[in-house]
Amino acid sequence: MHDLTWWQHAVIYEIYPRSFQDSNGDGIGDLNGILRRLDYLVLLGVDAIWISPIYPSPMADFGYDVADYCGIDPIFGTMADFDRLLAEAHRRGLKVILDFVPNHSSDRHPWFQKSRSSRHNPKRDWYIWRDQPNNWLSHFGGSAWEFDETTGQYYLHSFLKEQPDLNWRNPALKAAMFNALRFWLRKGVDGFRVDVMWLMIKDDQFRDNPPNPGYRLGQAPHSHLLPVYNSDRLEIHGLVAEMRAVVDEFPDRVLIGEIYLPIPQLMTYYGVDLRGANLPFNFQLLQCAWSASAVAEVISEYQQALPDGAWPNWVLGNHDNARIASRIGARQARVAAMLLLTLPGTITMYYGEELGMCNVPIAPDQVQDPFEKNEPGLGLGRDPERTPMPWDASTAGGFTNGWPWLPLGDEHEIVNVAALERDDNSILRLYRNLIQLRQTHPVLVNGKLEGAVAEQNVLRYERTSDLHPTNKDPFAGTPALHPTNKDPFAGTPALHPTNKDPFAGTPARERLLVLLNMAAEAAQISVKSGTVLISTHLDREGTKVGSQVKLRAGEGLVISLEQSSGGPAVR
Ligand code: NOJ
Repeated sequence: MHDLTWWQHAVIYEIYPRSFQDSNGDGIGDLNGILRRLDYLVLLGVDAIWISPIYPSPMADFGYDVADYCGIDPIFGTMADFDRLLAEAHRRGLKVILDFVPNHSSDRHPWFQKSRSSRHNPKRDWYIWRDQPNNWLSHFGGSAWEFDETTGQYYLHSFLKEQPDLNWRNPALKAAMFNALRFWLRKGVDGFRVDVMWLMIKDDQFRDNPPNPGYRLGQAPHSHLLPVYNSDRLEIHGLVAEMRAVVDEFPDRVLIGEIYLPIPQLMTYYGVDLRGANLPFNFQLLQCAWSASAVAEVISEYQQALPDGAWPNWVLGNHDNARIASRIGARQARVAAMLLLTLPGTITMYYGEELGMCNVPIAPDQVQDPFEKNEPGLGLGRDPERTPMPWDASTAGGFTNGWPWLPLGDEHEIVNVAALERDDNSILRLYRNLIQLRQTHPVLVNGKLEGAVAEQNVLRYERTSDLHPTNKDPFAGTPALHPTNKDPFAGTPALHPTNKDPFAGTPARERLLVLLNMAAEAAQISVKSGTVLISTHLDREGTKVGSQVKLRAGEGLVISLEQSSGGPAVR
C-alpha cells in the first residue's frame, strides 16, 4: 500500500470527545482521556482519529457552536494537552483529523458580538443580515432567521439561533477562517472533516425555497421545503477548491467534506480536476435499506458515479445517526463490519461500533441534544448514539469517576471493552481481525470491486488485484516517502517496511470473494474453490470451500479464490 497516501488506505475512527474517556471526573470526556486510550486504538488497528469539535464553545450544540477557532475548550483540556495528544498519537503512527465548522460560529464568538453591535461595524458583513426574513427553515426547527433588536435586522442561522451563519462571500471572513485552518495545520494536524460543507454558500438573492411535495409526516421539519436556494449552490465548488488549496499548502493532509446529497451531486464535491474535497463523505450505507439488493445497488451506483481518479470512501455511523447495531440488529452488525472493511477506499467508523454498541434510550429529563429539545418526540434526537464508551462493567463503565453526562444504559454490563476483549468470538475481535485483514490484503483497499450483486439475500462481490507490488517500485509517485529520501517509519519499528512486508504472503494476483448473508435464514451459494480467510462468526478460518458454500444466518465470509481459473468468478 506504499503507493497510496496515508488517508487512502486509512481506517478513520471518529471520536465524539464528550463521550470517549473522562480523565478529571466531571462526567465529560476530554483530551487526556483520549490520550489514555490511544493504545486501545492502536490495538484495534485504526490509522487515524477524527475528533469532533474541541474548540471553546458555549456548547449549545456541543461544540458545533465555535466561539474561538484557534483554542481548546477548558472542558476538554488545554492547548498543551492537545499538543501532547497530537505528539503521542503521531508517535504511535496515528493521524489526527480535526472537525472544522465553517458554516456558522457561536453567537458568543467575538466576531458575532461585533457584527451584531452595529450595522456599521466592520464585522457586520461577516454574518448574514437582512431587513426581512425569507422562508428558509432551520435544520433544528422553525425559521432560519432571528430578529436582533439592537440593530433591527434579522440574521441567518441554518441551525440554532445560537449558531449564526458566517458569510463566506466576505473576503475578510474567508481569510480569517483559512488562517484558522493554517493554525492547526502548522501544529501538524493531519486534516479536517468539514461540517455541512454543502451548506456554506447561499443564494445571493435570498429567493424563497419551494415546497417539498415529497414531505412525509415524521421527517425533520426543515424538509417541508426543498433546499434549492440555501444548499449545494454552484459557487460552493470554488470555495471548496480554495479550502483544499490551503490544506495543500502542507504536505500529506486530507480534506473531508460532510455532505448529505444524492450520489450525482455528491460526486461534484471532488471538484473540477479533483481539486475539491479529497473525500466527500459517502453516507450511502447510513441511508439505504438493509437488504442484499439495496446495498448491491448503492455499491454499484457509487462505483459507477465516481469521477476518474476520485478516491472512494465509506461510512457506517456517526454522531448524527442511529447506531448501526440498533438499525439492523446485533447479528447483522457483524455483517456490516465485514461489508465496511471489504469495500474500496477510505473507511470511517464511529467509536463503539467495534463493540456493537446500541442506541441508549434517553428519558425526557435526560435529554441533552438541542435538536430533541426543539422538536421533541419525533425521534430526531441524537443523544442515543452519543452515550459514553463502555470500557468495563462498572457503574460508569470506566468512562468517568463522576456522573456521566449521558447514561450508559444497562447493556454496558455485557457490551464493554473488557468483556469483549476476553471473548475470542466477540465483535471487537471481528473488527480487529477485519482491520488486520485489510492491512495484509491491500486488494481490499485498492483492488477492483467486481460484481456487487444480490443472490437470494446474500450480497456477493469480488475484490481483485493484479500485481504483487514487489514487481514495481512501491514508492513510485510518492517521492516524500521514498526510502532513499527519508525514513517515514523512524520511531515506529513495528511498522517499518524493512521489518514487515505488508504484501508478504500476497499472491501475484489476488481474488477475494465476499459473501454476506443479510437474512435470518441460512443460504447456499455456488462458488469457485478457495479458502476462507475470515467468517463473521470467527470459527472457520482456513477451511476449504468447494463448489457450494453454506452461509449460516447472518454470516459473512471472505474467501480467497484459487487462481487456476481465468476470469472473474462473478458472472
Ligand atoms: C453537522 C454536525 O455533524 C452536527 O452534529 C451539527 O449539529 C450540525 N452539523 C451543525 O453544526
